[in-house]
Amino acid sequence: MPAIHFLDDHKILDVLPGTNLRAAALKAGVHLYRPFQRVFHLNINLGALKIPCGSDVVELIDGKGVNARTPDEERLISGRIIKRKVGPQHRLACQVQVNGDVSVRTIPKLELDIDETKRSLGFLAALGIFTALMVLTFAIMALDLIKVL
Ligand code: FES
Repeated sequence: MPAIHFLDDHKILDVLPGTNLRAAALKAGVHLYRPFQRVFHLNINLGALKIPCGSDVVELIDGKGVNARTPDEERLISGRIIKRKVGPQHRLACQVQVNGDVSVRTIPKLELDIDETKRSLGFLAALGIFTALMVLTFAIMALDLIKVL
C-alpha cells in the first residue's frame, strides 16, 4: 500500500494505489492552497470548455510512484500571465495519481520567470492596443454611417 508523506504537516497517509493526491490531502486536512486561493480558486469544467485553476501546486520530493506530468499541467503550473519557473518536481495535486511511496511539500515557493512574464505581458499589451484600435475604427465607421461626423 503506497504511503504519502506530507513533509510540512508531518503526516503520513497510507492510501490505495491510484489515489488522487489532492483528494488524499484534503481528507487528511492538509492545506494545498494559499489563503487567497482557498476562497477564490475556481475550476471551470463545461465539457469542451475546461479552465482549471492551477493553484494546487505541490513539490514531490521523492515522486517516482506517480503518473507522469503532461505538457498542459506544466503550462498551468507556470501560470497564465505571471510566469513562474517550473521544475520537474512541481505538480498539480489534482493531477497526481499515487501508485508508490511519495514525499510531498505543499505550497512551494515558485521563482518568478521574468523573461517569460515580460513576453506574456508584451503580448497582452499588443493585443490590448489592437483591440482598442479596432473598437475605435468601428466607432468611427458607426458614427459615419449615422452621419454624426
Ligand atoms: S484543483 Fe485547480 S488545478 Fe488542481
